[in-house]
Amino acid sequence: MDQPPPRRTLIQNPDTTTWGETDWGIAAAKLAGDGVKLDDLLLGTYGDIPDEAPPDHGLTPRGAVVEPNMPDFGFRVTRKQDCWCDEVPDLYERAKNEQWDATHDIPWNKLPELPEDIERAVCQIMTFLVENEYVALAIPAKFIPQIDPHYTEVSLLLATQVKDEARHIEVYTKRALANGGGLQYVSSTTQWALKSLHSQNNYLKSSFLLHLLGEGTFLELLKFIEDIAPDPVTREILVRTRQDEARHVAYGVAHARQLLNEDPSMAEVLQEAAEERSSFLRATSGINPFVQRALGILAGGGTSEEQFQAGLERVRDFYRRLHQTRINRLMVAGLPEPTARRISELHGVGGQAYM
Ligand SMILES: [Fe+2]
Ligand SMILES: [Fe+2]
Repeated sequence: MDQPPPRRTLIQNPDTTTWGETDWGIAAAKLAGDGVKLDDLLLGTYGDIPDEAPPDHGLTPRGAVVEPNMPDFGFRVTRKQDCWCDEVPDLYERAKNEQWDATHDIPWNKLPELPEDIERAVCQIMTFLVENEYVALAIPAKFIPQIDPHYTEVSLLLATQVKDEARHIEVYTKRALANGGGLQYVSSTTQWALKSLHSQNNYLKSSFLLHLLGEGTFLELLKFIEDIAPDPVTREILVRTRQDEARHVAYGVAHARQLLNEDPSMAEVLQEAAEERSSFLRATSGINPFVQRALGILAGGGTSEEQFQAGLERVRDFYRRLHQTRINRLMVAGLPEPTARRISELHGVGGQAYM
């Protein structure tokens, strides 16, 4: 571990230091309306989000006046464009207002007993959702310590995401176990797809792959499962988790939009992220057979040949719409149509990844 350098300078009297001015006299609470929100604080030097974090400020809050010789904490997310967008403070406030509790807010005592083939399909889908939620929990948790405190609002927002994903793991696991079906089968296809997302160590690329592409696709999957859910309790779980995911995707879209608006050439970096993930995955095929079957059963309402084939047709139709929805979202984020189309085709491998 680095040792602190010999101490040559020290603030003896803060009133006479020439290193900088504090924000003394700017009363954020007096200017705010209903409560003090994060973006009410964006005044004075605290409100100045730098394009690049100063390298020698350590773990100190933006807007504070720092002594020299701060220790280097090795932050890797040190540029505004890597993580910031102006919506972050609002999204953080929204995240706090939209918290819910998987123990008490789901009417578990109203969960009906379902036919065995339907219950199995629900448990299979819950198993798959839990796998995906693990990666959505791990990624923001991995990056929070890498973000320079000059972009602290991003860390706070990611902390709410960690809480959201923990709740999603909890609620999907509870649903799998609630009726006695338990967790079902895991496909290596899914695990490799998740690994390809998990192993991206550049925040900008990882956030694009997760918040925009992965969770954007996941959002559509949750809506589809909500539509084919066999009972109101399972549906309620999908409705609530989808509201959280929409917030995560809102960050992904807003961040990409601000990034591309300020520097359109960053489209290449985003495409590169999708290419890298896809080439990592090229040896595996994209469809998880357990999930595919479970979706077909729920969409068709049962396991008879006729029901299952009708269900699979609905699933195929969902896939076709999924691709177009993903292109649209990428274009809303500011990517030109051909790039958006290419990235959507690459998602996972052959466009078949959910997360
Ligand atoms: Fe989630
Ligand atoms: Fe999420």
